[in-house]
Amino acid sequence: MKLPSLDLMKQSEFYRRPSRWFPVFFGLLAFAAAESRVALYSQENPAVTPVTFYRDVLPILQQHCQVCHRQGGIAPMAFQTYAGTRPYAAAIATAAQARTMPPWFAQKGIGKFSNDPSLTDREIDMLTAWMKNNAPAGSPTDAPPPRIWSGDWTISAPELELKMSEPVSIPAGGDIEYTYEIVPTRFSEDRWVQASEILPGLPEHVHHAVVYIRKPESNWLRHAPIGKPFTASMLNSPEDRRDAMWTDSDILLVYAPGSTPDQWPEGLAKLIPAGSDIVFQMHYTTNGKLGRDTSRIGLIFAKNPPKRQVLTLQLTNDHFVIPPGVPDYRVEARGTLPNDATLLGFFPHMHLRGKKFEYNLIRKDRSIDTLLRVNYHFHWQMSYRLADPLPLKAGTELQAVAWFDNSKANPHNPDPTAAVRWGEQTYDEMMVGFFDVAVDAGSDKWKFFQRTAAGNNAINAK
Ligand code: HEC
Repeated sequence: MKLPSLDLMKQSEFYRRPSRWFPVFFGLLAFAAAESRVALYSQENPAVTPVTFYRDVLPILQQHCQVCHRQGGIAPMAFQTYAGTRPYAAAIATAAQARTMPPWFAQKGIGKFSNDPSLTDREIDMLTAWMKNNAPAGSPTDAPPPRIWSGDWTISAPELELKMSEPVSIPAGGDIEYTYEIVPTRFSEDRWVQASEILPGLPEHVHHAVVYIRKPESNWLRHAPIGKPFTASMLNSPEDRRDAMWTDSDILLVYAPGSTPDQWPEGLAKLIPAGSDIVFQMHYTTNGKLGRDTSRIGLIFAKNPPKRQVLTLQLTNDHFVIPPGVPDYRVEARGTLPNDATLLGFFPHMHLRGKKFEYNLIRKDRSIDTLLRVNYHFHWQMSYRLADPLPLKAGTELQAVAWFDNSKANPHNPDPTAAVRWGEQTYDEMMVGFFDVAVDAGSDKWKFFQRTAAGNNAINAK
C-alpha cells in the first residue's frame, strides 16, 4: 500500500492542524426510557400505590445515574442502596426538575442522540412524587436485579489493561506541560477494539487524557523514551520538541470530565495495528497537593473482524484572537469530506471561555442544517452520539461554529481583560470540533484523506 504524502492530507481542512487534543466519541450507554409499571402517587387519588424506592426509583437510578453515582464513580455520592440515596431525595427531585442532572448540554429539538441520558417527564414526576411522599423504601422484593459494575470500569471487565509503566509526579502548583508516556502493546497481530476506557489514576489532577495509537511505521516521538513520562521540552532535538504535538496518529480514545467510554456496536470497531504503541498524552492540573498518577486503559476486543472502522477527525480553527470583554465571540471552521463516510457523533472541545458550539451541514444551495448545538460547559466535556448515523458523500461540507464569552459575566473567565489565543493551558483557548466517522474497514486516516474525484470537485466548486 502506497501512503499518500502528508501534504495531501494537510490539504484537508480537517487536517489543517493536528492538535494536541483529539478526543474520541464515547458512550453508547443505551438509556432506554424507563418502563413505567406503576401509577404515580397522586393527591387526587391516594388509593394509587405510592412511589417506592425499590420498585420505582431504583430502576431510574440504575439507568440514568449510577454510571457516575456508584461506589468508585466520579460523583461524590452513590445511589445504589436505599440508605445511600434516601438523604438525597430532595436534592434528587430538585436536580431532576431543573434538568441539571443527569448532565447533558445539547439543545433540545436539534438532533437525536443515543447517549442522551435525560429523564422523561414521567421519570421526573416519579422522583418528585417519591420525595413528596417522604421517600419510602417499599419492599426489597420489588427491586430490579442490581446493576453490576466491574470495579471502577464502566465498560464490562476489560480483556486487556495497559497502564503507564512509571507513575507521573505532579507538583503542588503551577502549569504543567502536556506529559507523554509511551506503552508498547506488543500485539503480534492487528486487534479490533470494540470497547475501551481510560481510568485516570488521579482524577482530581487529570484535566484530560488522550490515548493515541502509534503505528510501527510512524516516526512520531521516535527519539522519546519508552515507558517513562516525558514532556516535549525534555526532548533533545528542536524537531522532536516541535513534532510532539503534531501527529497523524489515530486516536484510540479520550478522557475528560463527564466523558463516557467508547463502546461500538457490533460490526464497528477501532483498529490497533500489530506492533503499535499506545501513547498517553496527559494534561494535568495542579491543586495544591503533590500527586503520582498511573493512568491505564481497558480494552475489549471485537469477536469478529468488523465491516466498518471508526476514525476520529476534527474541524479546528487555531488562528483566532478573542478580544477582551466580548461576551459572544464567534469562531468557525469548515471542511469538506475527502471520501464517503458515515457520521457517528461529535465531541466539541473549548476551554474556560467556551459558551456554545454548533455543528452544521452546509447544503449545495448554501442553506444550513444544524446537527448539534451545545450550551458548552467546561466541567462537562461530553460526546454526542447520533441516534441515527448519517451517511455523507465525498465533498459534503461541514462547519463547526464556536462562541466564546470573554466578559466578566462568565464565572469561569480567568481574565476578562486579556485578548485570548489558541494554546495548551486552560487560560488559553481551543476551538476543536471532533467528530467520529465510520469508513470501510482497512482504510485509515491516510487513505481516507486521499480525495476521490467527487471530493476534489466539491472543493473546486467552492
Ligand atoms: C455523567 C455523570 C453523572 C450522571 C450521569 C449523574 N450525575 Fe449527579 N452528579 C455528578 C457529579 C460529578 C456530581 C457532583 C457535583 C458536580 O460536579 O456537579 C453530581 C451531583 C449530583 C447531585 C448534588 C446536587 C447537584 O445538583 O449538584 C444530585 C442531587 C445528583 N447529582 C443527582 C443525580 C441524579 C438523580 C442522576 C440521574 C437521574 C444523576 N445525578 C446523574 C455526576 C453525574
